Amino acid sequence: MGLLPRSHAMLVVLIWIFWLPKRSAELVDSSIRDHRTLDALLQDYAFRAFVRPRTGIVYDGVVPSNLTGISISAMRLRRGSLKARGVKAYKEFEIPVGVVVHPYVKRLVLVYQNLGNWSTVYYPLANYVYLAPVLGLLAYNASDLSAKNLPELDIRASGQPISLKFSDVKSVPDGSVAKCVWFNLHGLVNFSNVVSGNVCSTFEQGHFSIVVESTAPSPAPVSPAPPGEVPNEGPTTRGGGKKKNTTVWIVVGSVVGGLALLVFLGVLAVWVQGYKHRKKMQQMEKAAEVGEALHMTSVGNTKAPAAMVTRTQPTLESEYVP
Ligand SMILES: *[C@@H]1O[C@H](CO)[C@@H](O)[C@H](O)[C@H]1NC(C)=O
Ligand SMILES: *[C@@H]1O[C@H](CO)[C@@H](O)[C@H](O)[C@H]1NC(C)=O
Ligand SMILES: *[C@@H]1O[C@H](CO)[C@@H](O)[C@H](O)[C@H]1NC(C)=O
Ligand SMILES: *[C@@H]1O[C@H](CO)[C@@H](O)[C@H](O)[C@H]1NC(C)=O
Repeated sequence: MGLLPRSHAMLVVLIWIFWLPKRSAELVDSSIRDHRTLDALLQDYAFRAFVRPRTGIVYDGVVPSNLTGISISAMRLRRGSLKARGVKAYKEFEIPVGVVVHPYVKRLVLVYQNLGNWSTVYYPLANYVYLAPVLGLLAYNASDLSAKNLPELDIRASGQPISLKFSDVKSVPDGSVAKCVWFNLHGLVNFSNVVSGNVCSTFEQGHFSIVVESTAPSPAPVSPAPPGEVPNEGPTTRGGGKKKNTTVWIVVGSVVGGLALLVFLGVLAVWVQGYKHRKKMQQMEKAAEVGEALHMTSVGNTKAPAAMVTRTQPTLESEYVP
């Protein structure tokens, strides 16, 4: 009888354990969805900066208050002039000649994003520490400046790459090598070398930053740190290695602790079930004994060895034993 609740509790624990890795995979998917949602929102707000826009001028946008800390800009360009002349300086970006746009549009808008202190919230990167904010450069159709949810155009440097000169790079911890990181719009992450300490280059649009590999041991396989819950991934202080270390252990500790708690709760549930069951059985037995005793007095001196079987039939038996 006690088997049922016990197996239920075990099932819960097992499901939880097998569900863990799946859950983190979903988090990765959902972070890509979050990127696209954020890009769409920032496209909308960047386009709002345009009031009778002139081409080739940078317009700074205002983000909604729930995203304070992110800065955005927009610049409208003729496709032909982008390709023929490039853009000497658009915030940190320098766009060379030869950038081609697909599909065909007459004019395009380049939306610039600086995710600031939101970089690690939207672009958490396990085992890496950001030395600079995440910057984005995305291209959109400029034909309708009040459009929302526009798909990005495809832009590609056909000659020299587009370069980004980060202005505020934190110093590289001793023994680490800084890397440029590029997130494309489909969730692909690629690393390349930093040039001159703060310059990265790209042939495509997307999001960019400078990172170093963190020295902390990677978390246990069962507990990949959920994005957004590793606060020290961010643009942190120098020599944050120790701090990062403890953060990882806190994360590992919470996961292990959570697991232990769950197992404990499962065991507790089994015990409570068993206890309730035993108590009920005791009560039933007591009731049965009382019933039997009463019955026996009324029936006579017939002593029944097993109450369960005999309880319903003492009258019959007593008839056979006159
Ligand atoms: C922030 O606010 C805007 C406008 O109020 C809303 O559309 C958006 O969903 C919010 N985003 C987040 C991440 O809270
Ligand atoms: C970023 O900083 C701003 C203030 O400058 C604050 O309002 C916002 O909550 C911060 N965002 C995060 C994710 O910490
Ligand atoms: C650009 O937007 C205009 C107006 O909304 C539309 O007619 C045109 O098809 C769009 N071009 C592309 C390539 O999406
Ligand atoms: C990733 O970067 C390497 C160089 O760092 C490059 O060779 C490779 O083509 C890149 N991958 C993609 C998909 O762009």
